[in-house]
Parts: sequence; structure tokens; C-alpha cells
Amino acid sequence: MSTPTREPYRPVYHFTPPANWLNDPNGMVYFQGEYHLFYQYHPGSTLWGPMHWGHAVTTDLVHWRHLPVALYPDELGAIFSGSAVIDWHNTAGFGPETMVAIYTHDIPNAQDQCLATSHDAGRTWEKYAYNPVVLNTIPLRDFRDPKVFWYASNPDVDPAAGHWVLLLVAGDVVLFYTSPDLKQWTQSGSFGAGAGAKGGVWETPELLHLAVDGGAERRWLLVVAVGDGAIAGGSGVQYFVGDFDGHVFTSDNPNDTVLWADYGADFYAPQAWNDPPDDRRIWLAWMSNWAYARETPTTAFRGAMTIPREVALTRTPAGIRLVQRPVVELAMLRSASWRLAPGNIAPPAPGEPSPEQTDRRYPEALECKVTFQCAAAITAQRCGIRFCYAEGVYLEAGIDLARGALFVDRTQVWEVPEHPTLAVVQTAPLASAGDMHHLHIFLDRSSVEVFAGGGQVVITDQIFPRSDDRAPDVTVQLFADGEGVRLVEGVIYALEPAAG
Ligand code: FRU
Repeated sequence: MSTPTREPYRPVYHFTPPANWLNDPNGMVYFQGEYHLFYQYHPGSTLWGPMHWGHAVTTDLVHWRHLPVALYPDELGAIFSGSAVIDWHNTAGFGPETMVAIYTHDIPNAQDQCLATSHDAGRTWEKYAYNPVVLNTIPLRDFRDPKVFWYASNPDVDPAAGHWVLLLVAGDVVLFYTSPDLKQWTQSGSFGAGAGAKGGVWETPELLHLAVDGGAERRWLLVVAVGDGAIAGGSGVQYFVGDFDGHVFTSDNPNDTVLWADYGADFYAPQAWNDPPDDRRIWLAWMSNWAYARETPTTAFRGAMTIPREVALTRTPAGIRLVQRPVVELAMLRSASWRLAPGNIAPPAPGEPSPEQTDRRYPEALECKVTFQCAAAITAQRCGIRFCYAEGVYLEAGIDLARGALFVDRTQVWEVPEHPTLAVVQTAPLASAGDMHHLHIFLDRSSVEVFAGGGQVVITDQIFPRSDDRAPDVTVQLFADGEGVRLVEGVIYALEPAAG
């Protein structure tokens, strides 16, 4: 991936298209050593328009190679979101190991599900002659975003015995279908009437079978993007934990339980790679929000993906919850590193800003790990780390000790004037009220991703530190608004461009 450095908000190590508009990740599948990333793409503009599937691959989850556009709109419509599978057992008769994309065809008043096939590892594609394969039979325009995977009824005995599962969203519920051959689909159930957050239309469902705390117990994670009314305003992603019997999902929780995958404003439509080469399930998401996605101040491109994250489940007193961790491969990008001096964090004198940890300037693409410890007798209510770009232009990530929450304050690094209400301080409840708080932060030129609580809470945000006359680097301050907070450990890594 070549990174045009003249664009001030072009990420250094996050995936972006060479130019123009990007939204959801699509067709995520691992095949013959390559992780494929297709994505909603408008090659003609930095605004959303007739959707294509852009295409890129990575062999290490870090360095990306751009490939030509994979799917173009045709007489059936534009190519909306969907997934891809490898038909290992040639169930469809397209030939062994065919890569099959299953996507939504969109025309102004209809959405149906269609197939395309590739025999050369996703480089060239042919649309199936008998599309669509799932016709919209209900009078709802919103009927889209098929996620398909192979459900092996007894994977340890015979991985080839089973059927295909397709889930899609219809309005604000998820519909399930099964098929022996990817071509003929029978509806097998639905989930979501009256359940979860309903502030907008549901989009881009995902369903994963995950181990709980790395042990033998496994539960199913159903993930649904919701177009509006999400936790940080605008669009966001909720999840459900439960069971899936090959036909329909049932939740472990009552209908009014609402669980958020990310408490920031810019995490949408996550999709995990099918057929991963190891036992990790890894996803990434579109790092934007439909409320303002069209108005962000980037120039040649608009839209980026999050870093790839490993997803898992953990048991908590409140129930089983999603955990996300940055993939370990990202450590490949580290170059220089700096240790922050441990010690008590002095509260500022009245009217004074916190002292800078050092007068060093750090590159604006960095990874940072900090651990704060709280004394038994503590007067501080907030502590954290502040990345300063210029006078009055800073980003804060920290712990709201009074509320037991992670927070990110992007109000001073926001440049989307039409949406002032979305530049609020975001908070995410931390389950454990222990005295140690670890933050793992990935900062890039126009985004921040903060992981806390062992990955149980994440805040992902776009940021737009003013681009005029600022130096492309940051200073760092540690802060606490009272006594009793100590930095136990802190390290900052410069991250290299993810050039292919
Ligand atoms: C989600 C979404 C999908 C749709 C696609 C269109 O962000 O709205 O529901 O398929 O984007 O680009």
C-alpha cells in the first residue's frame, strides 16, 4: 500500500483505498495464503454512489496490496455488502475451490441476493447466470448484506457434512436461510423482533462461534450494525450472545439487553475472515459513521478500516461478553520506542495545565500502552493521557475513576462543523473496579482506537486535528485531576507505514 503523505489525514497504517469512497468490508475470506478484503467502493468519487467491490489482499494482516476492482454494477443493480466463501466440496458445481461472493444487488426499490464466482483467487469474477438466488419476498426495501458460512454439523468427525448458512437483515430483524449448494435457499428462522437496539435499520449481520475464555465452552456471537441511535450517536454496532443450531439463533439474554461492540462513534459493519488459517477469528470494520461519513475533511480518499482485531468471548459476572484485541502482527510496524518515566502523576497547580511528561515530540502514527495505578486514598476523579497537536488541539484517553469508565475526548480534534453533537466525550463502562488500569491505544493521522478492560471495552473514533500549519507530530502529557494516581508503566512505539 503506498501512502500519499501529502494528504494530511491519510492514515499511515490503516487500510484506505488508493482514492475515493470506501465503506463496509465485504467478502472477507482467507484462501491460499491471502486474506482477502473486498469493500464497498465508489471508484468515481469521494462520495457514496453506485457501489462496486474494491479489492485488496494481505498475507500478514498488516501490509496490504491493492488489486483491481472486483465487482461492477450491472443491469441488476449496484453491488452492496456481502460475504465470500470457498466452496471446498464443490457443492454448487462451479468447480472445486471456487471462490463465491454472495452480495446484495440494489436497485431503487428492491434488494435481492446474488452470486458471483472466481477461479483465480478473486482476481476476476463472473456473475452467476441465474441471479438472484434469494429474492425479496417481503415488502421491505431493506433486505440485504448476506453473510454466508459453512455450518459443519459435526466438525470433528466430518467437516464435509453440513450445509451453508446465510443470514441477512430485513428491516430491523435478522433472517436465516440454509442451502445445500449456495443456489437454493430456504428460510430457516428469524431473530430480533423486539430485541436489542432499534434506533435505526439493522445492517451487515455477522455470526461467529467462539470459545469462552479460550476453553472448551463455545457460544455464538451475533453482531448487527444499527444505522442510527447507537451508543455514541449515529450508527454503531451491537451484539448478542447465544446459541445457533444451524438454523436459527437464540439469545442468552432478555430482549432489553443491549450490548455494544464499541463505544466510540466510528466502528461499523465489522466482518470476520471466513476459513482462517489458525483458530483465531479476526475482524475489521469501517471506521466511520453514517451520520457524517460524507462530510469528513479528507481529500483524495474518504473512508478507512480499523486495525484487524482478534475477537473472543469472556465470562463476566454480568454474563458472557465480547473481547477484542489488536492482532499481534501489528507489532511488525513498531520502529522506535520510548519508555515513559514511572511515578506519581502530579495534579496541576490551580489554573495550570498538566506538565508534559517530556518535551519530546512523537510521530502522529503510534501505539501506546500505559498502566495507571490508583492509591487507596485517592482524590483524583479522572486520569489519562493527552496527545497534543498544537495549542488547544488535543485528544484525551483515560479513566473516569468516579464512574468506573474508559473515556475518550475528541472534542478538540474535530473538524466536521455540521455535526458538533457527535464530538462529545465518549465513555464505556469498565466491568472491574480494580486499582490497575491498562490502556492500549492505536493513534493514526485521523483515528484513535482505545482498548481497555482486557479488551472488553473499545472506543474507536475518527479525529481531525486541524491540518493547517501543524507539525505532523504530537507531544504527550499524563494527567490526573487530583492526588493518588501513579504511572506504573508506559511505552510509546512509532508505527511505520503499512507499505506493501
Ligand atoms: C452499511 C450499508 C449496507 C449496504 C452498504 C451500501 O454500511 O448501508 O447495509 O449494503 O452499506 O454501501
